Formats: sequence, C-alpha cells, structure tokens
Amino acid sequence: MAWIVCLWAASLLFVSADPVPDGVLAMECHDRSFVIAVDLPFAGDDARFEAVDRTGTYAITESYAARCGYTVTVSRPSGLVELRSSYFSCHTDKQDDGTFAFSFNLLVRRDSDAVYTLNKTCSPSLAWSPREVACQLNYMEVLVKSRASCAPGTKDDNWSVLRQAHVSSTSDWQVMFQRDEDQMAPMSLSEAREQGYVFDVTDGSLMFRAPYGQPDSFIAMVNNIPVEVVHATLFSRDRWLVIMVDLVAACSMHQGTYEDGGHVIFETPEAPYPRPDGTRIQVGFKGADVVTENGTVQVRIPLDVKGGLRKSFVSGGLYEFYTFHLVLEQMFEDDEAETRLRLRRILNTPLLPRPLFTQNRSVIEERLFQVYLGDVPEDVRLVSLWLNGREAPFTNSCSVADIAQAARGHGYLLKVSFDDPAVSQQYFEVYKTMQYSVDINYTLSVLPENELYNHSVSITALAGPSAPVLDATCSESGISFTADRWALDFLWFIGVGSDTLTPELAMQRGYKMSNGSQRLQLDVPVYSQGFRYEEITLEKFLGTFEILMKERQTSAVQKSIKKTCPFVTSELIVCSTDGKMTVVANLSLITPSGATPSTSNLLDDFCSPAEADHSRALFSFPLNSCGSKIKLSKGNVIYRNEIFYSKNSDATERLVVQCTYPLEGLHRLFSTYRFESDDPGAGRIFSRRLGAGFAAAPPRGPVATTRALMPTSTAAARTSAAPVRKRLGSNPGVHYIRVSKHGKPHPDVRKGAKGWKLGSV
Ligand SMILES: *[C@@H]1O[C@H](CO)[C@@H](O)[C@H](O)[C@H]1NC(C)=O
Ligand SMILES: *[C@@H]1O[C@H](CO)[C@@H](O)[C@H](O)[C@H]1NC(C)=O
Ligand SMILES: *[C@@H]1O[C@H](CO)[C@@H](O)[C@H](O)[C@H]1NC(C)=O
Ligand SMILES: *[C@@H]1O[C@H](CO)[C@@H](O)[C@H](O)[C@H]1NC(C)=O
Ligand SMILES: *[C@@H]1O[C@H](CO)[C@@H](O)[C@H](O)[C@H]1NC(C)=O
Ligand SMILES: *[C@@H]1O[C@H](CO)[C@@H](O)[C@H](O)[C@H]1NC(C)=O
Ligand SMILES: *[C@@H]1O[C@H](CO)[C@@H](O)[C@H](O)[C@H]1NC(C)=O
Ligand SMILES: *[C@@H]1O[C@H](CO)[C@@H](O)[C@H](O)[C@H]1NC(C)=O
Repeated sequence: MAWIVCLWAASLLFVSADPVPDGVLAMECHDRSFVIAVDLPFAGDDARFEAVDRTGTYAITESYAARCGYTVTVSRPSGLVELRSSYFSCHTDKQDDGTFAFSFNLLVRRDSDAVYTLNKTCSPSLAWSPREVACQLNYMEVLVKSRASCAPGTKDDNWSVLRQAHVSSTSDWQVMFQRDEDQMAPMSLSEAREQGYVFDVTDGSLMFRAPYGQPDSFIAMVNNIPVEVVHATLFSRDRWLVIMVDLVAACSMHQGTYEDGGHVIFETPEAPYPRPDGTRIQVGFKGADVVTENGTVQVRIPLDVKGGLRKSFVSGGLYEFYTFHLVLEQMFEDDEAETRLRLRRILNTPLLPRPLFTQNRSVIEERLFQVYLGDVPEDVRLVSLWLNGREAPFTNSCSVADIAQAARGHGYLLKVSFDDPAVSQQYFEVYKTMQYSVDINYTLSVLPENELYNHSVSITALAGPSAPVLDATCSESGISFTADRWALDFLWFIGVGSDTLTPELAMQRGYKMSNGSQRLQLDVPVYSQGFRYEEITLEKFLGTFEILMKERQTSAVQKSIKKTCPFVTSELIVCSTDGKMTVVANLSLITPSGATPSTSNLLDDFCSPAEADHSRALFSFPLNSCGSKIKLSKGNVIYRNEIFYSKNSDATERLVVQCTYPLEGLHRLFSTYRFESDDPGAGRIFSRRLGAGFAAAPPRGPVATTRALMPTSTAAARTSAAPVRKRLGSNPGVHYIRVSKHGKPHPDVRKGAKGWKLGSV
C-alpha cells in the first residue's frame, strides 16, 4: 500500500485572543485538539457554539460538528459543556500546519442572547506522524503528511483503481470509496462534500474526515470486535501522471463491557490495518491495565481509577454508575510509515447497586445506641433522621456525626441514649430488664438533583430500666419539678421527705401535680410544707425543695433533685430545727407615728432587729432567748415572743411571733441548752392589742401543718419555716388578736383598725 502526498498550498493567518467570559473554565491547546470547557450556571442546552472564520459564522449543530471536526459533549448533571475541535476543523485557520487559529462564538441563550468571542491560537508541540487517524466520538479523521518527494504508487497496489483514475475525463481531484471489496463510482470532491465528507489539502498534509455511519463506510468484525472502516481513494490525473492517495480510517466500535468485580473493559484490534510491524499502545488512564492477546488489545479500567466519574442514582434502590472518558493511542509501524491512531470513547457502566451497611456499635454499659451507617457515597448526604417515626431533634441524648471513610465514601455515626424520649421500651418483669428499641429511618439525598432515598434499620438492646429523668425550674411563686419517662409507675415513686407523693398528699399541701403518659409534673409553691429557707434578708431569701425518686420495692433512693431558688421577701417566719426563730414582719400597723421599725424590739429590750426598712424588721434569735415565753399545750411546745415599740408610749399593739413544735419530735429541749427537733416548727405572726390576755392566742392557722424533712442539723443557716400569710386583703389564713399592754386595757385603742377581728378568719 502506498502513501502519496503532494504539496498543496493555501493558508491564512489569524492570531487573536479574547477576554474569556465568566463560566468558561478553559481554552486549551491539546496535542491533537483544541478544547473549550464551559461551566455556565444554566443547563447545557442553553449554550451553543458558532465557528467563525473570515467567510462567516457557522452554527455547530450535531451533524455539522460531525462533518466539520467538532465534538460537543455535555456532562450531566454537572452541566459542564466541552467543545473539542480538530486542528483540521472546517474553520480553523492553518498556517504551515504548525499554527492553528480558532475563533468561536459562545451563545448564551438565557443571558439575553449574549455572544462571547473565544479566540485562541495553538501550535501543538507533538510532531505529526506521517499518518494520523482520529476516532473521535462523532467522526473519523485521517491525516496524511507529505513526504520528501511525491512518489507515485508502487509495489503491490491494485491497478484496477488506477485504471479507473486513468479513464476519468477530468483533471480535478476525484474520490472513490471502497466498501468491503467493492469500488464505488468515483465522484468529485464537491459531490463527496455534499454527502458529508470533508477533504482538506494544505501545505504538506491531506485530511479526510467522515462522520460515523456513512453509506460508504462499513463494519468489519476483526477478532470479533466491530470496527467501522471508511476507505477513500483520492486521485487526480495530469496527462500521463496519476496521483493517488489511499485514506483509510478504522475505528473500534466496541461499546465497553462491565466485568463483575469492578472493571470496565474496552477492546480494539491490535491491527485494524493490514500488516503492522508493531504496535505501541498508550491509554489515557493511569491505572488501567492493557493486555494484548490473540490480536486483541484489551483495556481494563478499574472503577476506582483516577479520572473516572462516579454518580449515585436512585431508582427504587440506591445505585451508582461510572463514566470513563477513554483516550487510547496506538502507534503502528509498517514498512513505509508510522501511523498514530487516537481513539476517544465514553464508557458507562450499567447501574450498579450501591448497598449501604449499618453496624450496631451500641454500648450497653453506657446505655447508648451507636449505629454506624457506612459506605455512603460522596454525593449522598443525610437530610433527616427518623427515630420510631419521630423526626430526630438533635439534643444531648441524640447526635449524629459525619465520618470520613478510608475508602468508599463516608458514613454517619448516630448516638442515641436509651433514655431518649424517642426510644421505645418494654419491661420484662420476669427478667427485671428493659428492652430498648429504635427503628431508624435515614433520609438521604443524592446531590445535586436532591433525589431522596430512605434507608432503615431496627436496633434493640436489653438493659436494666433507668429511673425517670428529673429536672427542676424556678418560678416566681415556687419550684416546678418534672420526671420524664414516667412510664414505669410500678417501679418508682416520688418521696417528699419521708412522705410518699400521692394526689391526696399534693392536695393537702397545696402542691399541683399533673401526670401525663410519660411525664409527671409537680409544682410546689413557696411556703408550702417541705420548703427550707436560708439567707433570709429583707429583700430576698433562698428557698429549697427536694424530691426523691425511690424504688417501689426497696424504697431505696435512686435519684434525687434538690432545687434552690431565690424569692422576694415580704413577710415570713421560720422555726428551725436547731431552735432558731427568724421573722420578717411588716410593722406598719403597729408603728406609732415618728417611729421606725429599726427601733422596735422583742420582749427583751436588748433584742433589736438585725435589719429593718421603713415598714419591716428582721429578727433572728434562739427560741428560748430574748424573753420568749414557753408553753406546753396538747403535746406541743410553743415559743412565743412579741415585737413592739417599748420606748414609745403611743404604741397600742404589738406583734406576736410564735413557733410551735410537737413535743415527740424534740430531743433536747430541757436536757441541754442545745435545741434539736426532727421537724421545723410551725410559725405564726399575729398582732395583739395591749391588754388582751396571752391565753387569747388563736388556734393554729393552716400554715401550722407545715412539715419538712429536716436533718437534725445544728448549722445556724439551715432553717426551715412555715410562712406567714399577708395579714390584710383577701388572704383568710391569718389571725390577729388585740391585747392590751401588760394585760390591762389600754386607754388609747386606735379606732382605725376596725377591720381586725379576734380569732381566726
Ligand atoms: C476573533 O477572531 C475573529 C475571526 O477569526 C475576528 O473577527 C475577531 O476580531 C477576533 N476577536 C478578537 C477579540 O481578537
Ligand atoms: C483489485 O481490486 C478489484 C476490486 O476491488 C478486485 O476485483 C481485483 O481482484 C483486485 N486485484 C488484485 C490483483 O488484487
Ligand atoms: C487466545 O487464544 C488461545 C488459543 O486459541 C485461547 O486459549 C485463549 O483463551 C485466547 N485468549 C483470549 C483472551 O481470548
Ligand atoms: C421507616 O422504615 C420502615 C421500614 O422500611 C417503614 O416501615 C416505616 O414506615 C418507616 N417510617 C417512617 C417514619 O418513614
Ligand atoms: C422517606 O421517608 C420519609 C419520611 O418517612 C417519607 O416522607 C418519604 O416519602 C420517603 N421517601 C421515599 C422515597 O421512600
Ligand atoms: C446491638 O448491640 C448491642 C451491644 O452489643 C447488643 O446487645 C444488641 O443485641 C445488638 N442489637 C442488634 C439488633 O443487633
Ligand atoms: C400517674 O398516672 C398513672 C395512670 O394514669 C397512675 O397509675 C399513677 O399512679 C399516677 N402517678 C402518680 C404519682 O400519681
Ligand atoms: C406593710 O403593710 C402595709 C399596710 O398593710 C402595706 O401598705 C405595705 O405595703 C406593707 N409593706 C410591705 C413591704 O409589704
């Protein structure tokens, strides 16, 4: 076979460069093609190209591209558009076959039909082989370079072709296609161009291009591999001289196969051309294996090869596929010249199932579910998580972390406490264990389309039941306690001191109790029984209340919560277990004009207020000091003192303050100086008119029933109290007594106090 190339000339010069608009990623001169990559923020359909030369602009449609040496590919879903142009495309401006100037218009439809000019000049550094064949995605191209001399056809050429040329009447170039062994009738180059073929003769090279699937091309099976062949013979006759050039392109049409185990295999014959002396093969993937056996070149591409594209896909289940842009270069050496064949193919795997896996890493000792969802592809994200049908709020007891994997994507580690409200539990009485279970539904999204995929897993674990979760908050009027997961009532009960919290006890003491299916709430108003008080000042004091979570069977305390809250002081009386009375009393109604509470005192004149403001005074003293009077009555011991203005003759009333302790709870009343009571005493404040007898003391008010769990502590600050209600207004629980000074009627009884009554209200 002979290769004859003659010099033919025609050349123009263009050198230009344009500002590249936003979105054009690259304009690159590659060895054998010029590439423009566009990533515009709209779908690929909205970007079009036009080729520009000095004769005009030409829209690059699909068929025009295949004819003229352009390949446009749109990668989904990224929307990356690539225009790849042959150096011998219809509108390249070529000079000396060494400098190639390209000019394109990029038309952006959505961008108000903006037109960008993309100009670039390339001088590829890779030397041209005598014969180059390009198997592009949409066309085949053959380039034959001139040799030193224009030698006529030689050797074993088939002269019947030459005869055809010889009888041709015209000296113009003619082309004759050969299909299998048949020769077609010769046609002029313009006729051939009409049929979609392009011939180009330049200074030193001759180029022939044909789209795939032309009527004059054919599929040959070589080693069972389909190969598309186009064979054109170009000739010209000048009197006795016939110039003839054989142009053959043969491209493997193998579609690629997927081999289980993670390879894509592409095959091409080792020798698509007759009589190659040797083949050198180069593949555009590092990491791809090339095996040549029995005349077949097999390219094996592992799925995880660098340069491959992976995409997740939802179709019932979660799938993935891989795309490879294969570039294969084969070099053939025959006795005349070297041939370089470049083949580009896009190979897709079928949809491959992409299983995710879950791993139970729960730790019973920590009462923690830990579930690892692994092998999540890089383009898949967790968007929501459902635990037993409830969308997971990520709190202290539930968290999820995105974890990088060494290979194959990433994973999510979910941690959920057994005690999270979303976890369901079932108690097995016989085994005294709880079964915790959670159905986890992961909603994953495949980016960027946001296709949703659900993955679910159920996890259970056995562990001992945990006591309800206790919490407490302060309010202006008291303390609120909550017990969450109050489901296993038969296992637990709540204690207030040594008492058991029941609806009856709550009602009796003024606690408000509400009992939901999983949650118990207890509101304890300040001053109610069980409160303890400390740091009492005129402005504020601290109130403390404690509840205990006890095991039903053993009454052992499992948990407890003790809450201390600040409250604003108005009036109060505290009778502590260590024998101290602390009183904040409003003296407005007994303060004679001109006097202030700071000048008031107890029965013992030397006992004056620790603190006082314009209407109130704070006294704090051991029960049996400051002139207190002690009285035993009906199993109780009563300590009583009075607040009054002794230095002021105007004073007609005084306030009585008293603490009542049940005798049986007292340990050290008389034996030692130290006072010690099981329970705090019940305190009362009331006023008495001077002259009224001491015996006229009223019965105990409702506050007198106050009890609190109180360790027999001697710490002075640890006091416990029953409160004093406001003495005026609608509050009914207060008693006022007018008594005359020193038991004698006082001449100076004030009329203004007419609302006051003797006895209880
Ligand atoms: C780009 O090339 C075209 C045609 O080759 C030319 O008309 C135009 O002026 C060039 N533009 C720039 C900016 O160089
Ligand atoms: C030359 O080619 C023709 C048709 O292509 C064929 O019939 C003939 O046998 C060939 N001759 C030789 C010597 O190969
Ligand atoms: C190559 O041919 C040999 C003998 O025909 C055969 O055993 C072998 O399997 C072939 N190899 C391939 C890859 O087809
Ligand atoms: C969670 O997944 C399970 C099993 O696939 C399914 O039956 C259940 O309906 C799902 N729950 C939710 C809330 O999606
Ligand atoms: C996935 O689960 C969510 C929540 O249960 C549900 O709303 C959605 O329809 C599910 N999606 C698919 C594709 O099953
Ligand atoms: C999960 O792991 C825990 C701890 O190892 C185990 O007790 C439990 O049975 C496991 N649950 C499931 C459903 O595998
Ligand atoms: C809460 O309610 C349940 C039933 O509704 C009852 O069995 C339980 O005794 C109640 N708990 C308390 C502390 O009252
Ligand atoms: C004390 O009592 C008087 C009269 O009832 C009232 O006007 C005043 O507001 C009270 N003071 C305080 C601090 O409560």
